[in-house]
Amino acid sequence: MKKILYSLILISALGLQTKVDARPYDTAKVEQILAQAHALYKDDKNGANADYIPALAEVDSELFAIALVTTDGKIFTQGDIDTRFSIQSISKVFTLALAMEQKGAEAIRDKIGVNATGLPFNSVAAIELNEARSVNPLVNAGAMATVSLINGDTGEQKWQAISAWYAQFATAKLGVLEDIYRSESGSNGHNLAIAELLKSYGRFYGDVDINLDIYTRQCSVGVTTKDLALMASVLANGGTHPISGAHLMSADNVQRVLAVMTTAGLYETSGEWAYTVGLPAKSGVGGGIIAIMPGKFAIAAFSPRLDGAGNSVRAQKAIDYIADKAKANIFAHLD
Ligand code: DON
Repeated sequence: MKKILYSLILISALGLQTKVDARPYDTAKVEQILAQAHALYKDDKNGANADYIPALAEVDSELFAIALVTTDGKIFTQGDIDTRFSIQSISKVFTLALAMEQKGAEAIRDKIGVNATGLPFNSVAAIELNEARSVNPLVNAGAMATVSLINGDTGEQKWQAISAWYAQFATAKLGVLEDIYRSESGSNGHNLAIAELLKSYGRFYGDVDINLDIYTRQCSVGVTTKDLALMASVLANGGTHPISGAHLMSADNVQRVLAVMTTAGLYETSGEWAYTVGLPAKSGVGGGIIAIMPGKFAIAAFSPRLDGAGNSVRAQKAIDYIADKAKANIFAHLD
């Protein structure tokens, strides 16, 4: 009985029951769920920082933050919320969104592809195994090719467009973390090889060096967990920013971006994530993860230790916990 009551309070706290949708959020209850998630996993030492980008190995492994932004514009935070870290692969979602707005959803399907690779994020084998070569904008190959699609006569113009786009999602200008950018630029041989391979197959749409550099810069953008949740909240709200009110994307394109996140956002473990958590999500090797409950809220969590697929261990657990308490799952039956 106690358990049922508790669940009802949590559901209504996040406004997920259709019957309580009109009620205001119970701020204290949402704060409590975030605090519980943080307390439950803050001592989890599983996983390890990414180290193939040397600067990422230097980041304090104990950092842990959670943020949730609702589609009616409320912001909830917990933990090391002021720490800036590199956005890494989460950037791929927002550059995909820009490319889709500029070129249309069909161009993304034709020129990049929208199938899951089922393979690690930096897999060369995925390019060789698939006849279409690049098959997904959220793995490194397709993400670099997506950067090459962005409008602009020069690399600088493209970069300005991408960074202005991110700023609208975050409602703040975001800078590049120079130490991460330098470290990643100095250890980028694998990505260079992937980009050259795609180019040789006619699946890269511009100069390799320029677009690889823009991709590396976008991965090195510094964000707080709150910035990430604010960025993700646009995807939870059908393309309109719940805080600024800016209309950034069509609802159709949001739907497609969420579909790609569902199939590939956590790379080769995306299927397990959909099966257990059921929210479109995207991870980055900096330790961040975003997850979206369409129409309701976006969560971001950050902690640097990663599992074998490159997904933050604590961030996955925290999001899983919050989604479970909120009964948020896009595959759930709605009454
Ligand atoms: O290109 C890379 O390898 C990194 N800048 C980004 C990879 C990444 O974040 C994978 N995500 N979990």
